[in-house]
Amino acid sequence: MDVVESLEALRAWRAGVISPLGFVPTMGALHEGHLSLVRRARGECERVVVSIFVNPAQFGPGEDLERYPRNLSRDLALLGGEGVDLVFTPTPAMVYPAGFATWVTVETLTERWEGAARPGHFRGVATVVLKLLNLVQADRAYFGEKDYQQLRVIERMVRDLNVPTTIVPCPTVREPDGLAMSSRNAYLDAAQRQAAAVICRALGAARQACEGGERDPKTLAAVVERMLAAEPLVRIDYVAVVDPVSLEPLTAIAERGAVCCVAAWVGAVRLIDNLLLAAPAEDRG
Ligand code: PAF
Repeated sequence: MDVVESLEALRAWRAGVISPLGFVPTMGALHEGHLSLVRRARGECERVVVSIFVNPAQFGPGEDLERYPRNLSRDLALLGGEGVDLVFTPTPAMVYPAGFATWVTVETLTERWEGAARPGHFRGVATVVLKLLNLVQADRAYFGEKDYQQLRVIERMVRDLNVPTTIVPCPTVREPDGLAMSSRNAYLDAAQRQAAAVICRALGAARQACEGGERDPKTLAAVVERMLAAEPLVRIDYVAVVDPVSLEPLTAIAERGAVCCVAAWVGAVRLIDNLLLAAPAEDRG
């Protein structure tokens, strides 16, 4: 497995590579969720590149940029075990050199939910992902559905800007008690960790209600809100039942189905999760 830091070294490696090339962008602190993306890429592509870059541009003031978990040697050992061909580990100064002045803004889709809670976040994500896609020039790039709005934003950017990479959405990987895997789970103490599992249970209860015939998005959101409110260590940021493509709040469950998105604080840790409550009509069979 090659590990390269500079953009030039990545470009030189890329020039000699056979297709298809798969790409998994990460911020490191790898867990089974990341590894599931790598395995999917490994299964579908001749060569696999993983980037590890804690992108300062997607963290707001007062967020956890400084304390975001970093463990490069462990990450490299895990990636080596998955048969990754190249790991790209640029520094912030390489990605954002002095005079950097070009930003990517995906409109509308980024206004609500994570975009509202974290101003500038999606501008930072879209910009770094476009730069990475331009540098790696992969045939396929793999993103987890856990960051649902991020996935939709990247799909829209790639479509709008004609980026010649196929975005492959991959299912959320969960702990045995249902907690969605996230590098930020490492911040939770034992009691918080146990409490955090309510998020997935609440989403599951909403899906069950939906499958049982409850079709009112407000009532479905209330199922989630009630369960979260009953857990003293959890504080709701938002619970939203939305259109799976536009992420606009739904007043009725329609053809395109419905996704429930949640953000909640568990102590000082902000977690997000989501679940498809109703599949799009064409998938319902
Ligand atoms: O999902 C992430 O880890 C990051 O947002 C990404 C896509 C690697 C961009 O920094």
